[in-house]
Amino acid sequence: MPYLSPALNVMIAAARKAGRALIRDFGELENLQISKKGPADFVTTADSRTERVLVEELSRTRPGYGFLVEEGGAIEGKDKTHRFIIDPIDGTSNFMHGIPQFAISIALEREGHLVSALVFNPVTDEMYVAEKGHGAYLNDRRLRVAGRKSLSDILVASGAPFLGKDGREEFLTELDAVIGATAGMRRFGSASLDLAWMASGRFDAFWERNLKPWDIAAGILLVREAGGVVTDLDGRDGMMDCGNILAANDALHKQLLDLLRGKS
Ligand code: IPD
Ligand code: CA
Ligand code: CA
Repeated sequence: MPYLSPALNVMIAAARKAGRALIRDFGELENLQISKKGPADFVTTADSRTERVLVEELSRTRPGYGFLVEEGGAIEGKDKTHRFIIDPIDGTSNFMHGIPQFAISIALEREGHLVSALVFNPVTDEMYVAEKGHGAYLNDRRLRVAGRKSLSDILVASGAPFLGKDGREEFLTELDAVIGATAGMRRFGSASLDLAWMASGRFDAFWERNLKPWDIAAGILLVREAGGVVTDLDGRDGMMDCGNILAANDALHKQLLDLLRGKS
């Protein structure tokens, strides 16, 4: 059984509450796909409502904590030592297209360090949690990153920049290097779930550029607590500031860093 701190219990309760409404919305979306206007407005509403529910629930049980949330930005709290970092729906395009690969992502920072993490896919009912120093879990199962050591054996996930996003050229160069050296590449569309899946050993590594803190905060702790290594693309701990990230097991991390930088 996972060790759940009181704060993580509160995060789980908030995510389950918000998740119930999201499942109902996801069911509704099927009808909206065929309308001329499409489901965009509906999704925006679901996004804001999910964020509101999460902030309300967490503020009620942890008054004074600060927030960094996708829609609302930074919300200062009286307690300067704690901050929740939230993406209400990570994988919005999937959600909008009826693809059940999206998640609520919540991380808790204490004095600038990630201490608790949750990534929850309400459709599959997969609840990934991690507590610093106590491991990472999928529901009740302890997670461990995959152990493959050779690039030629591994599956790597990433996120491709789309219309209006920076980094297309860098991505295409990196993609070319990765598909030429590994057993395959995947693009699932939710960075927080990518990291959670990587933590659970479903694939071996994940990299992406230009992400936001709410896309990766919870996933970083999940991977680390599952025994993986997470850095930015310079090999440093700057992911939350620069938005570039590489996660892999210890044996693969350096090899992939070199590959992505064109050094191998
Ligand atoms: C997006 C997802 C996606 C990543 C994008 C993010 P959103 O978040 O995490 O996998 O490639 O860069 O913006 O917009 O669905 O919350
Ligand atoms: Ca996101
Ligand atoms: Ca989002």
